[in-house]
Amino acid sequence: MSTQEMKQAVGNAAAKLVEKGMVVGLGTGSTASYFIAALIKRYQEENLSIHAVASSKHSFDLAHQGGIPLLDIDALTSIDLTVDGADEIDPSKQMIKGGGGALLREKIVAHMSHEMVVIVDETKLVPALGKSLLPVEILPFAHTATRHHIEKLGYRGSWRQTKKGDTYLTDNGNYIFDIHFSHLLDNPRNDEKAISSIPGVVETGFFFDLAGRVIVGFADGQIIIKK
Ligand code: 5RP
Repeated sequence: MSTQEMKQAVGNAAAKLVEKGMVVGLGTGSTASYFIAALIKRYQEENLSIHAVASSKHSFDLAHQGGIPLLDIDALTSIDLTVDGADEIDPSKQMIKGGGGALLREKIVAHMSHEMVVIVDETKLVPALGKSLLPVEILPFAHTATRHHIEKLGYRGSWRQTKKGDTYLTDNGNYIFDIHFSHLLDNPRNDEKAISSIPGVVETGFFFDLAGRVIVGFADGQIIIKK
């Protein structure tokens, strides 16, 4: 199976977990988009009565085009089930997210959810976090100083840019500073604490203790659900 096929397979598997009457949180990214496509199919073919909230404008648009009724998140205090992808996930289900730039809203949606189901292909499994970039959402106000303080702690990275070379802006109008680590992290919770303590840092891409079931797709076609 190709990576795209693995992503589609886990997206399809996650859509089967959605039950009638649920408020569903929609993640962001290519894997989450396969989930949204599969959910739209169920919604249309089975007349599945559900409502959804989206973690990004992109996911909102996908669901909206498919006819899924979307709720204003400000009218809710909880969500039944959220399905989202990840950039990295370790054996204890701790994650790094935000490759798609939606980390802040994704974390809020995940935190509001009775369960966050994570859908990944096997390339996202890591022995410890820190293999790829850690996205950090930063307020534009005084962002040069915020970066300086992050670097003073010993972290290195770069501002995310669009394909055209402009500064990338999140749905919240903030910047993303992508930190790269020189080695896998021994204690990412310490890194999280240090980075988050800097004023101007809005959110980091560390997602601790949020994952419920994890659906993993393998190249040989196997799909495993980790509880
Ligand atoms: C977006 C995310 C995505 O879930 C993460 O980047 C994985 O993306 P993909 O499914 O495209 O590999 O956190 O902010």
